[in-house]
Amino acid sequence: MNRITRSYSFPLPIRLLLLTLAVAVLPLLPGCGRGQEEESTLRIGVALYTQDDTFIATIAQELERMAQEEEAEGEIKINLSIADGRSNQTTQLDQVDQFISRGCDVMCVNIVDRTAAAVLIDKAEEADIPLIFFNRQPVLEDIQRWEKTYYVGARAEEGGVLQGQIVVDAWLSNPDLDRNGDGVLQYVMLEGEPGHQDAMLRTEYAVKTLTQAGIEVEKLVSGTANWKRGQAMTKTLQWLDEFGDGIEVVFANNDDMALGAIDAFLETGRSLPLVVGVDATTPALEAVADGTLYGTVHNDAGGISRAMLDLILALTSGEDPAQRVELEEEHYIWLPYQQVTGSNLEDFYPGA
Ligand code: GAL
Ligand code: CA
Repeated sequence: MNRITRSYSFPLPIRLLLLTLAVAVLPLLPGCGRGQEEESTLRIGVALYTQDDTFIATIAQELERMAQEEEAEGEIKINLSIADGRSNQTTQLDQVDQFISRGCDVMCVNIVDRTAAAVLIDKAEEADIPLIFFNRQPVLEDIQRWEKTYYVGARAEEGGVLQGQIVVDAWLSNPDLDRNGDGVLQYVMLEGEPGHQDAMLRTEYAVKTLTQAGIEVEKLVSGTANWKRGQAMTKTLQWLDEFGDGIEVVFANNDDMALGAIDAFLETGRSLPLVVGVDATTPALEAVADGTLYGTVHNDAGGISRAMLDLILALTSGEDPAQRVELEEEHYIWLPYQQVTGSNLEDFYPGA
């Protein structure tokens, strides 16, 4: 039997142009690379709310590193496709559509706007692609929508309690922290994105931990700096104009903002009050080492990545996930937070 070979004959210059376009556009599409890879390849689509976030970038790097290690160890090939949502939910939904149409086996979503979770879960369910949310937590009702939906992260209130305890211990052991000697702890609070549970609950529980320890507190001012160092510096400069050395403690919902506050104090040549953050990013650990940041709370980026990968491997090999990871309420994997101060810095930052 004769096979008919069709040849589409565009003139050469047009063919070259089409080829150039394809080469230029393809890498921009988030996808899982089906078609270019063997069928045995595990295709993972990872959607970040934004890549421009120190902690999230660390999770993505860890995931890449661990996937490579996993490949090096076994027969499995892993195709990890990471998409940057640029803080735009519409962009992220498009990226998830691409993951689905390009044949991902699993999707990991760091959702931009958690109120959009249901839409995403329904899409995943329709395509029967397991969906793992991480770091930005959808509400329980959404997570329970479909049995192959998971959440991997840390408990926001626990981060707040541990941050509060660092301040309680410091305050009770060092009377000089009470700069004006009135027995009351005057603080400012740099908050993360409005509506984010890590912002709301860390704030609430940090302060609660102080008052429950019997410390009288006075909030001078609070405001959001959206997790960002630059915004936190600007805010703190304004607050310094208003309160000057009256600020005795700076609480920041994350390290980048704590570092921004430190930038502001140093820029204006003022002596630093007690500053605390959350995350234990590398720049924050350096700041603890040089004594500008009093303490932070380790938010386990590596643990989140490891748990996601283990869950993925279980889900795609037909194993019961509960055999490989510690699942709570069938959907949740929780990573513990840990306090970090000068006294245990060595555990988190070897060689400090
Ligand atoms: C928090 C973290 C912040 C920021 C945020 C993004 O857990 O402490 O630094 O990364 O997540 O959702
Ligand atoms: Ca005071």
